[in-house]
Amino acid sequence: MGEMDGLDVTDCTRCPALVDSRSRIVNGTGPADADLMFVGEGPGEQEDQQGEPFVGRSGTILDDKLRDRGLAREDVRITNCVRCRPPENRDPTSEELENCWPYLESEIEQVDPAVVVTLGKVPSEHLLDRDVAVTSEAASVEQADLGGSVRDVLICVHPAATLYDNSQEESLDAALDKAAAMAGDDAGGQSQLGDF
Ligand code: URA
Repeated sequence: MGEMDGLDVTDCTRCPALVDSRSRIVNGTGPADADLMFVGEGPGEQEDQQGEPFVGRSGTILDDKLRDRGLAREDVRITNCVRCRPPENRDPTSEELENCWPYLESEIEQVDPAVVVTLGKVPSEHLLDRDVAVTSEAASVEQADLGGSVRDVLICVHPAATLYDNSQEESLDAALDKAAAMAGDDAGGQSQLGDF
């Protein structure tokens, strides 16, 4: 079983393979009342080393694209479907996703974001509970019952997809344009660097 302290998982041994492969548990970052919550798949090597989500190459892409849209990383919540690095960066198994779900659900419930943005296929399919063709569905919004409420889920391609396939950048840009617009629509206190 595991333990949470507020938004953070402080101890968990539910997934034996991940307990072996992780250096640490990587919790979400950003305001506890953020309007935008980005959900990735799981920590990679850099995230596992530094203990923060999206601090490797994908994180640099995400940070740059947020900044282009007047959003700072510090203004948004960034988290993952699983909080421990899978061995050799494999996808988390459905059992591992399931094991970590109560933590993510609790984080969504506590942060209560206006929009949940799923970064890539794994989080999109996990939160929407269906097959998702991320590239063609990017920038579309769907309602899902998450963390005790029906919420807007915005499908987005994973930032790292643009590293391997340039054509993915358009889909990423379209989804992030929408995310920024939705955050702006719900501007309650969200600081926007674009104002300066
Ligand atoms: N990719 C993810 O899905 N999550 C991270 O935290 C980093 C890279």
